[in-house]
Amino acid sequence: MRSRLRCAGLLVQEGDFVLLYFNDRRWYVVRARRGARYSFNEGVISADEIIGRAYGESLKTHIGVECRIVKPTLCDIVYNAFKRRTQVIYPKDAALIILKAGIGPGSRVVEAGTGSGFLTAILAYAVRPTGTVYTYEVRSEFLELAKANVAALGVDSFVVFKNKDVREGIDEREVDAVVLDLADPWEVVGHAHASLRSGGVLACFVPTVNQLEKVVESARGAGFVMVEAEELLLRKYKVSRGETRPEMRMVGHTGYLVFARKP
Ligand SMILES: C[S@@+](CC[C@H](N)C(=O)[O-])C[C@H]1O[C@@H](n2cnc3c(N)ncnc32)[C@H](O)[C@@H]1O
Repeated sequence: MRSRLRCAGLLVQEGDFVLLYFNDRRWYVVRARRGARYSFNEGVISADEIIGRAYGESLKTHIGVECRIVKPTLCDIVYNAFKRRTQVIYPKDAALIILKAGIGPGSRVVEAGTGSGFLTAILAYAVRPTGTVYTYEVRSEFLELAKANVAALGVDSFVVFKNKDVREGIDEREVDAVVLDLADPWEVVGHAHASLRSGGVLACFVPTVNQLEKVVESARGAGFVMVEAEELLLRKYKVSRGETRPEMRMVGHTGYLVFARKP
């Protein structure tokens, strides 16, 4: 299946995700499936009106409100069109994980837990066209949801989904990175060490400082080096000439990141 992010042509095709832009506050990411109808505050649009149109074109809802058809980014799709039933990784943390774990085209990456598959999809997108993400999830209902999300994006051929408790062990060897987003990563650090190639990176996301201490200590104990504990704060700005300032509200906390290298 082709990736929903590859712009195969300039026309919207059946199954594509599209961003319907009304204004900077009101835009929606929908999947163009024949027969589907989308209801917004601005009115109703049917998928049949979108399919075959060129990106950049405008169209009107049934009450005459105009919107533009925009090609969405990976971030737009994952965070606006995917279904979620678990806590999910935030874009800022996913971006840092990709860069610091050295994940790119051709990488072999182990991930646990899969959760809603937000990070799985982002990792799969990064490892294309020759890499693989092996993702472990203990709860089958979350694994099925993640499969559906990742398949909708069209990157499922780069993912091996495993309904398994990762504390029982990691099957893959000589992988480039192990990414853990689960409650007790210290239980998995030893398996991660055995699974990684020399120079491979362990990346853990944990929401509390108590978990941070435990995972750092276990990484050091398991023989990892260059163990770093980090937190990434992202602040948005309200930009208006002469009165530019930070937004009043922000996401004050997502979690901490631990990166460690197998020597
Ligand atoms: C916070 S969610 C992961 C969210 C995911 N990173 C995302 O962005 O959608 C944590 C997941 O880890 C799973 N999990 C917890 N312990 C696990 C284990 N030992 N093996 C496999 N999965 C586990 C949970 O069932 C849950 O779905």
